[in-house]
Amino acid sequence: MAAYSSYLSFMFFCSLFRSFLISDAIVPPNETFTYVNQGPFENFDPFEPIVSEYDSSYRRLPLFNTPFGLCFYNTTRNNAYTLALRMGVPRDNSVIRWVWEANRGKPVRENATFSLGSDGNLILAEANGQIVWQTNTANKGVVGLAILSNGNVVLRDSKGNFVWQSFDYPTDTLLIGQTLRLNGGPYKLVSRESATNNVDGDYSFVLEPKRLALYYKNNMRYWSSTFAAVDIKNVVLTNATFKIAEGEYEGSSFHEIECGLVNAPLMFQGSGYLALGTVLYNSSLSYFRLGIDGNLRVYVYNVNVRRNALFQSFTLFVNPMSENSRNRINEDECQLPNRCSKFGLCEDGQCVGCPTPKGVFGWSKDCDTKSPGCNASGFTYYQLKGVDHFTVKYTPGTGPVKRSDCESKCTMDCKCMGYFYHTDSSRCWVANELKTLTRVGNSTHSAYIKTPIS
Ligand SMILES: *[C@@H]1O[C@H](CO)[C@@H](O)[C@H](O)[C@H]1NC(C)=O
Ligand SMILES: *[C@@H]1O[C@H](CO)[C@@H](O)[C@H](O)[C@H]1NC(C)=O
Ligand SMILES: *[C@@H]1O[C@H](CO)[C@@H](O)[C@H](O)[C@H]1NC(C)=O
Ligand SMILES: *[C@@H]1O[C@H](CO)[C@@H](O)[C@H](O)[C@H]1NC(C)=O
Ligand SMILES: *[C@@H]1O[C@H](CO)[C@@H](O)[C@H](O)[C@H]1NC(C)=O
Ligand SMILES: *[C@@H]1O[C@H](CO)[C@@H](O)[C@H](O)[C@H]1NC(C)=O
Ligand SMILES: *[C@@H]1O[C@H](CO)[C@@H](O)[C@H](O)[C@H]1NC(C)=O
Repeated sequence: MAAYSSYLSFMFFCSLFRSFLISDAIVPPNETFTYVNQGPFENFDPFEPIVSEYDSSYRRLPLFNTPFGLCFYNTTRNNAYTLALRMGVPRDNSVIRWVWEANRGKPVRENATFSLGSDGNLILAEANGQIVWQTNTANKGVVGLAILSNGNVVLRDSKGNFVWQSFDYPTDTLLIGQTLRLNGGPYKLVSRESATNNVDGDYSFVLEPKRLALYYKNNMRYWSSTFAAVDIKNVVLTNATFKIAEGEYEGSSFHEIECGLVNAPLMFQGSGYLALGTVLYNSSLSYFRLGIDGNLRVYVYNVNVRRNALFQSFTLFVNPMSENSRNRINEDECQLPNRCSKFGLCEDGQCVGCPTPKGVFGWSKDCDTKSPGCNASGFTYYQLKGVDHFTVKYTPGTGPVKRSDCESKCTMDCKCMGYFYHTDSSRCWVANELKTLTRVGNSTHSAYIKTPIS
């Protein structure tokens, strides 16, 4: 009996102690909120249409720090909404952009709620209470939510520290000052599938110890950065921040991805950056985006402009025939895996041909290869001279090997659609997806495409 009562008093003491801790961490009532996804859309007025990215309809929440603001948006009539941060204001008549989002791939329905409870957890839930997304910050000292002037959505504690920040959860976009990190992440951006379908797409922009790289389907590299310093042994990258920097010459600022270097010799310190075009005006409102098409772009926002306030100031893959392809890191659009859809020959940014066993025909969107099947005596190869696969430029392939060994490797692999071989270096690349082939005008480079017999 005595043991029982002392257990009870111990319990009592514990609960006192606990409630003391919780009350210390509680969000003041005027900082808590619950917003419901219902009501009219802001851009519904047919006389004054507001165009928002992906042709979406949106509902604005009273959580904003102009030109940033949180909204629910949809891109279809399928009752599927994303909670996102917009950049831009309706009055400037330019397209509103979605620069951060909470629930890609996990849309919520009509009447879903977005709430900050007194325990400090920020929750996106369906009307029936089912939690779809949350910050997991209950009882961690959160006292309120704020949208900072740089577009970072933060949950602050009483000392002003960030218990949680949206900058740590990018999807396909980096704002100025946002960082990718190798240790603890986030270490990559993932593209969006399509304008209407907000799920992960096929492309990723990845920070690695020795480079920044672009991948198609996680393992097919189609671009990577080069930093002189990183080529040195032991020198590695740790982080990559999108920022604006002063240039060598007075008054010339530029956007850059600056990478943190570890073990770099003194002469190389500060050289781990990727220049992304010159700034046009005060461009602290800019964003870096891995696009639906796998391209990298920088957009600049000018608050003082009333029309077309957003300007595209940098594109990594450009048409080499266009005038604005001056930046030294620019690449030919032909390097984009899907430039010519399922299959096609690309030259100077244009799709110029549809290869077939009977020769190269004019390109069309329907250009494709026939599935060769798994039976080695059921298919053969046809050769295309002077072409490379999109992985060739930035991956070493294997070798030196004989062409016949390269071919065997492809023949034995049902998934292999063809192989690429350089006779000058005896290197071999096998490809499970052909997509865009680039004409290189170098007859030592050839493609061998599998084709069914018959
Ligand atoms: C809540 O109240 C505090 C203290 O009165 C005030 O400083 C703060 O701005 C209020 N927050 C909101 C969102 O109104
Ligand atoms: C979003 O949903 C509403 C309600 O169903 C619909 O009227 C609107 O057309 C949708 N927006 C888009 C862009 O499909
Ligand atoms: C949303 O909730 C309101 C009541 O607040 C209700 O009238 C309406 O039917 C609900 N909409 C849907 C699609 O469930
Ligand atoms: C990036 O890494 C460098 C080198 O490790 C470090 O000095 C710097 O503080 C880091 N920056 C950020 C924003 O994490
Ligand atoms: C640039 O714009 C930002 C945000 O509007 C502002 O905070 C900053 O002071 C401006 N800088 C200059 C140099 O005008
Ligand atoms: C493989 O293809 C050859 C030629 O078309 C055919 O004779 C043979 O039966 C096929 N083998 C299998 C296992 O389908
Ligand atoms: C063909 O490519 C090789 C490198 O793979 C290069 O050394 C050679 O100069 C190129 N030839 C022509 C004609 O461009």
